[in-house]
Amino acid sequence: MTTATGTSAGPLAGTAKTVLEVLGLHRTYGSVRAVDDVSFRLAEGGSLGIVGESGSGKTTTARIVVGLERADEGRVLIHGRDRGDRGDRARGTAHGKTQGKAHGKARRLARAREIQMVFQDPFLSLDPRTTVGAALRETLALHFPGADHARRITELLDQVGLGSREADALPRQLSGGQRQRVAIARALAVEPAVLVLDEAVAALDVSVQAQILNLLFDIREQTGIGYLFITHDLGVVRCVTDDVIVMRSGRIVESGPTQQVLADPQHPYTRLLLESVPRPGWDPRSIAAARRAL
Ligand SMILES: Nc1ncnc2c1ncn2[C@@H]1O[C@H](COP(=O)(O)OP(=O)(O)OP(=O)(O)O)[C@@H](O)[C@H]1O
Ligand SMILES: [Mg+2]
Repeated sequence: MTTATGTSAGPLAGTAKTVLEVLGLHRTYGSVRAVDDVSFRLAEGGSLGIVGESGSGKTTTARIVVGLERADEGRVLIHGRDRGDRGDRARGTAHGKTQGKAHGKARRLARAREIQMVFQDPFLSLDPRTTVGAALRETLALHFPGADHARRITELLDQVGLGSREADALPRQLSGGQRQRVAIARALAVEPAVLVLDEAVAALDVSVQAQILNLLFDIREQTGIGYLFITHDLGVVRCVTDDVIVMRSGRIVESGPTQQVLADPQHPYTRLLLESVPRPGWDPRSIAAARRAL
């Protein structure tokens, strides 16, 4: 196993096997350096947080890792194997031959079993005309053809705290928290090695958020799945991650064990992020001034 360069030497430099390794990612949009030399590692069954203010490059990094976006430079390895950077982008483009299509599909399915992503708004990723149970059945049939999926559907729903009532419901008949559970169940159905959660609990009220965070904690214990947990909420990071990287303007400015980074931040930007969390005696004006000075 190669050692990730630079900032990634901090998090997850322990003995656990690496499931995901990202090396030197770069992505620019015109003059914007959205992702600028980002490297990190995620241990098997580990949980790595990515924090940073809006526009710092978190989602772009996640989309590159999952294969929804291409990198200008850099590599994404799962269990030491290069994912390439073009796979899912081929979706929707014309493959010349039928054979090419079948090959492309098999490759996409294999890639999907490596990493699944849960987005902030599950509405966008759920078909409005398909019930929850049918959606899970579709995913299972695609990835595990030939098997009877009834038991697995019940098991998945149970894992995310949903029952038969929700199985028969359409997405619009569910609450935001329930829909987010459905999105998580569908991602788990694929039995991925890594789950990327991009602001997956940001839109939920705090009590539902707490439930889903608990759920994710339990699922990680049960399945050994690794999480890449993207959020701007340092409270969430504290609860659900072992290690954290702090991004600013596309770059990693600090990384390390979450408890350590939050208790004793080394970079002024991390300190500023921590000071920006509202609390008694909090002064938004001095924080804005400190931010301009940084
Ligand atoms: N498709 C795109 N075209 C042009 N610019 C983009 C594109 N996607 C992202 N960017 C730019 O890249 C930078 C990083 O965006 P990104 O979405 O990764 O930030 P983020 O950290 O996820 O922010 P947020 O917390 O608001 O979700 C931003 O300046 C954004 O405007
Ligand atoms: Mg984002």
